[in-house]
Amino acid sequence: MSEPAATGRIYSRIAGTGSHLPAKVLTNDDLSKIVDTSDEWIRTRTGIRERHVAGEGETTSELGYQAALKALQAAGVEASEIDLIIVGTTTPDLIFPSTACLIQHKLGASGCPAFDVNAACSGFVFALSTADQFIRAGTAKTALVIGSETLTRMVDWTERTTCVLFGDGAGAVVLKADSETGILSTHLHADGGKKELLWNPVGVSAGFQPDQPNAGVRILMSGNEVFKHAVKALDSVVDEALDANGLDKHDLDWLIPHQANLRIIEATAKRLDMPMEQVIVTVDRHGNTSSGSVPLALDEAVRSGKVQRGQLLLLEAFGGGFTWGSVLLRY
Ligand code: UT7
Repeated sequence: MSEPAATGRIYSRIAGTGSHLPAKVLTNDDLSKIVDTSDEWIRTRTGIRERHVAGEGETTSELGYQAALKALQAAGVEASEIDLIIVGTTTPDLIFPSTACLIQHKLGASGCPAFDVNAACSGFVFALSTADQFIRAGTAKTALVIGSETLTRMVDWTERTTCVLFGDGAGAVVLKADSETGILSTHLHADGGKKELLWNPVGVSAGFQPDQPNAGVRILMSGNEVFKHAVKALDSVVDEALDANGLDKHDLDWLIPHQANLRIIEATAKRLDMPMEQVIVTVDRHGNTSSGSVPLALDEAVRSGKVQRGQLLLLEAFGGGFTWGSVLLRY
């Protein structure tokens, strides 16, 4: 194993994590009363048992704000110290202002740059990578990075192939510039040629307009095709992360994957020759929370005491676009 020594390089280190879930829980049995599905089908095909669903007032910015408060507290950082806010989301409160600006205002952290990143389910990984570039370039010292989503607000509740998959929630991290190792590498990818396999065709300058008949806000997905692309892309991105750092798969302590489907997670773990005991799984209780899933899983792993300081973590995600990527870090 070779890892860069601390030689004057600036790293982004995770100083604190937080997460927040809406109070309401929807079980598979609840869903079987709405559409023609069953607990058995959902569990065996996806690993999902239940998901949280945002209620009134539980907007993407509110979930992200609550997660941010916990991350700031865990990091021992005041809102006034934040000099960058990036939110990964594909379900913003509004078209504009950005959800990052709304959260910034709730935190009372005005002045610093705040913006959203839309990379669908890869949103948090893209946001974390972007914040890492700011920190390594020396233009930010204390960044707040959030993944927050309310996907249940845009699912078609009559469409069993998609409505059983998604949940709402948010996770956040505070990143600090540090001379000790933190984020070792990030790798991001996209392929816009596959957009119609997973998308929401409602748009502003193109696509269906929300006021057109039969154009209700919804997610459309060719699940089986997406599944195959996800497994292949995640195989290559985990190899890429290890190769770039001269590390072996057995050096990893934890895999913290995007939580779309337990079978996809198991395929990545198998590629890494990793027992499932070293994989953080929340999809059973959260469903697919898109950009929220990786930081939610990370926060749960940190707070439960599974993930310890000094351990090597591989974060990865795949989503609509297509987009995919990884973050390899020493926690
Ligand atoms: O987070 C972004 C990336 N997203 C993903 O990674 C999602 C990737 N895809 C998947 O996770 C899986 O493809 C799904 C969970 C979406 C679907 O699982 P699948 O094993 O690929 O099932 P399928 O789409 O091939 O459907 C199999 C059968 C079909 O019936 P027939 O044609 O075999 O008679 C579906 O109509 O299951 C049926 N089906 C359902 N049955 C009960 C589809 N959805 C349901 C349902 N309940 N909710």
